[in-house]
Amino acid sequence: MSLPKLPIYFAPLQGYTEADYRNAHAAVFGGIAGYYTPFVRVETGGFRNKDVRDISPFNNKVDNLTVQFLANNQEKAEKILAFFAEHQCKTIDINMGCPFPMLAKRHNGSGILPYPDEVKALLSVIEKHPDMKFSVKMRLGWDDPNECLAIAPILNELPLDHITLHPRLGKQQYKGEVDLIGFAAFAELCKHPLIYNGDLETVEDIEDIHQQFPQIAGVMIGRGLLKNPALALEYQTGERLSESELRQRFKQMHALVLAQYESRMEGGDLQMLNKLKTFWEYPEEAIGRKTWKNIKKSINMDKYRTALSQGGLL
Ligand SMILES: Cc1cc2nc3c(=O)[nH]c(=O)nc-3n(C[C@H](O)[C@H](O)[C@H](O)COP(=O)(O)O)c2cc1C
Repeated sequence: MSLPKLPIYFAPLQGYTEADYRNAHAAVFGGIAGYYTPFVRVETGGFRNKDVRDISPFNNKVDNLTVQFLANNQEKAEKILAFFAEHQCKTIDINMGCPFPMLAKRHNGSGILPYPDEVKALLSVIEKHPDMKFSVKMRLGWDDPNECLAIAPILNELPLDHITLHPRLGKQQYKGEVDLIGFAAFAELCKHPLIYNGDLETVEDIEDIHQQFPQIAGVMIGRGLLKNPALALEYQTGERLSESELRQRFKQMHALVLAQYESRMEGGDLQMLNKLKTFWEYPEEAIGRKTWKNIKKSINMDKYRTALSQGGLL
């Protein structure tokens, strides 16, 4: 049976999918139904300049942007929501999936999942802001896949737009296989539109997960899109880009990102170089091992440009 195409959402990846990257991706590749910002959190009582820049409407050119936050209690959540409101951000995702032990041990991200009362308290902010649209991004649990089943009734009661589920446990980080049995068990209980997230790297992977879970409302992809930014476009059009077309678009996307960095980064070459290297970290396979190695070992912008032009990327 052939199923209609699913919407694809670009997952938030701290350090990779900031505004410059998202804007350039939308302009050159597209195929994405919505982009998410990496999580914003309260740090030493305030917000990082980079988070202000990342959510500001002036810096965002994509059509459907969701801003994400991470907090372990209502008070911090309210502070972040006020910050979002100040910047006209009204489509909000709540992070209950982050696995970093330093954050999780204080019941942030997936660290909150074993505590239904704390989940309930945190999510009580949703009903206080009827002008905002909320979603939740979560894992199966911190150390037990039954944790998501225990909080399903709380989630079902709330006016959520959707839930995105990454079927791993927090304590696994990104190791081990995704747990599709755990995903199916949550899907059974969940009354909201459900988006699948995890380990989708090819058009076939997307089609397979859709066949297995015909009821899902979409898929969210992170690393698969960093590796191949054309993945969503290829799925939506049903056509693969040729190697030279892909390289051409990589060149265009990189040129847009580089122009933005050049116009605003004041920390000198090294800061820019380090940030640019992250752009090429995942697409090693597409650009070739040799080119990636040359990029990685470049010690200044001249060497970086030489590495790119030798790889046909400048
Ligand atoms: C380096 C890195 C940073 C991430 N940052 C965030 C984040 O800020 N917010 C979030 O919800 N998930 C974050 N994630 C998780 C991804 O959004 C996604 O759920 C995960 O990578 C699994 O999807 P994938 O297999 O398609 O990459 C991050 C993952 C990685 C590897």
